[in-house]
Amino acid sequence: MKKIIAANWKMNKDRAQARATAEELAAGLSAGRASGRSVMVFPPFLAIAEVSKVLGGCADTVVGAQNFYPAESGAYTGEISLAMLADAGANWVLVGHSERRHVLHESDSLLAQKTQYALSRQFGVVFCIGETLEEREAGKLTDVLTRQISQGLSGVLDLSKSLLQEKLIIAYEPVWAIGTGKVAGEKEVLEAHALVKDVLAKQACDLSSLPVLYGGSVKPANAQALLALANVDGLLVGGASLEAKSFLNIINA
Ligand code: 13P
Repeated sequence: MKKIIAANWKMNKDRAQARATAEELAAGLSAGRASGRSVMVFPPFLAIAEVSKVLGGCADTVVGAQNFYPAESGAYTGEISLAMLADAGANWVLVGHSERRHVLHESDSLLAQKTQYALSRQFGVVFCIGETLEEREAGKLTDVLTRQISQGLSGVLDLSKSLLQEKLIIAYEPVWAIGTGKVAGEKEVLEAHALVKDVLAKQACDLSSLPVLYGGSVKPANAQALLALANVDGLLVGGASLEAKSFLNIINA
């Protein structure tokens, strides 16, 4: 399976900046520098159309959205629907990112609803999980990851396994490693990814073949070592994906 390298631009870049980064990225990708990798880019909403126009021609590259609301349309002030995102060129979404869980207080049950909603409507989902430092120090790693996976995926287990294999990716991002420069050590990544695969295997339809990405302070300098670890099927990159050169170096690590 090709390693998946995903860029989460978070709340960064206006449309011109996003277009410039996407153009640089497209030039790097079409120069064949990404062979053997699948690439995903999650720009802010207003830049999705620009970015998908630019990256549309790149092989093995998809554009997604960082959030959406699970309803067709209607009185949901400030929210955005999957149809609007599809119209702009996005066909993947992030669900459960730690900033949505902890800053915006999205619950396990809302995340389950969003995951089920998107997967049932031909969108792919990168479902993010991860423990806080307090949870890790309190010995709750297994409990937290088990709860986040079991509850988050509870509504999707009746969908076909082939759809889940094609459209569902898990991203393990320890909250204490996000944006802190503190990448999880080899031992922690191996332990957490083995645990995630184990919990996935125990779901009603054995989901252990789903790709599991690592995220949290990934940089060009540590990407290769992370990708070489067992059960690490790719990377979800924040800060180091904002510059095309740095993200291309991670893609090619
Ligand atoms: P950083 O790579 O900036 O630590 O962010 C990780 C992340 O949250 C990606 O979704």
